[in-house]
Amino acid sequence: MLSLRSRALPLARNLRFISTWSYVPAGPPDPILGVTEAFKADKDPRKINLGVGAYRDENGKPFVLPSVKSAEERIHAAKQDKEYLPITGLADFTKLASKLAYGEDSEPLRNGFIASTQSISGTGALRVGAAFLARHYPGVKTVYLPVPSWGNHTPLFRDSGIEVKGYRYFDKKTVGLDFAGLKEDLEAAAENSIVLLHACAHNPTGVDPTPEQWAEISQIVQKRSLFPFFDMAYQGFASGDTTRDAYALRYFVKQGHQVALAQSFAKNMGLYGERVGLFSLTTGSQDERARVDSQIKIVVRPMYSNPPIHGARIASTILGDPQLYGQWLTEVKGMADRIISMREVLYNTLTHELKTPGEWGHIKSQIGMFSFTGLTAPQTKALAENAHIYMTSDGRISMAGLNSSNIKYFAESVDAAVRGRL
Ligand code: LMR
Repeated sequence: MLSLRSRALPLARNLRFISTWSYVPAGPPDPILGVTEAFKADKDPRKINLGVGAYRDENGKPFVLPSVKSAEERIHAAKQDKEYLPITGLADFTKLASKLAYGEDSEPLRNGFIASTQSISGTGALRVGAAFLARHYPGVKTVYLPVPSWGNHTPLFRDSGIEVKGYRYFDKKTVGLDFAGLKEDLEAAAENSIVLLHACAHNPTGVDPTPEQWAEISQIVQKRSLFPFFDMAYQGFASGDTTRDAYALRYFVKQGHQVALAQSFAKNMGLYGERVGLFSLTTGSQDERARVDSQIKIVVRPMYSNPPIHGARIASTILGDPQLYGQWLTEVKGMADRIISMREVLYNTLTHELKTPGEWGHIKSQIGMFSFTGLTAPQTKALAENAHIYMTSDGRISMAGLNSSNIKYFAESVDAAVRGRL
């Protein structure tokens, strides 16, 4: 294969005769968003999309939260303008989102030590964070990701100039946490490097450490002087309770760690397309926070200038109003509970009704939006091609795509796939 360098010369000479982009190779579809494209192209009425992590209601439809609708009505009635936001976003939003994550009794929050910026949802928060670390982190610019992790973590950190390594996380044999492997790998991680931790509802496995395990992780992180970067895309989705789901983050802060945090409001407010999130860092003083804030602005400005306004207005209207906030907490719990009930039905159908070969207890024990089913890549392919059921090839399913109308068909198709009859 020709290297890019050797291709450049003939291209420059023959620009008049060939198309400029004729040497661009076709890239593979995105492992997660590509699944949605395949699903959309399928015309079979039985089709089910269990690919992307986006909540669906009992009728399989996208769900706009009633609290979001109310917030939008208030915004509309207030007839606000559409001026640019500051580089780091809507101040009300950044304050309230930090409070939601760190808790109002958080010391760095009360002391004004949290540097933050509104971001283009969770991905944007990670990307701004990675770019900031690439520029200013004084330690080793290597991030250790759990294996497996969300598929976008690796390219995101690499594209930001941070080297990516892994630490063991998931044990295929027990379909649970490989805690011994995790500890061994973090103990062996380069001192002063960065470790990415999923704050709750680990994506893609749905397996989280227990509080006791978090305590041990915190000790290793301290001992190896690792820098913890939390990704919290599912606050509220793990347990149905936003405070409980922030446990690991708040525990680390209480233990004296300085942390970085990426938050998303895509899942817990259903604001997928509004792209609203937050990147934040705990700093050592107000003066340091001001300096870090000034550098975050310098990272953001040439990337996208300043963030979009509407989603941040919705989130801050909800977070800032006691009645709407209470309503939203109930709605988050409603979404989490519906997913938990689907876990129960799926487990019972596979195990008791269909007697599908294998052990399916993990469907119930895993938490959050996803279940890491253990289905193999050939089985997921057969499910897509022959049953019109779409999921990522690692066997992850978005539990939110299941409902009482399609769960039987799904379980029967999984049963057939596992028995090699699909
Ligand atoms: C997912 O993992 O499905 C979500 O986080 C959506 C995404 O952007 O990949």
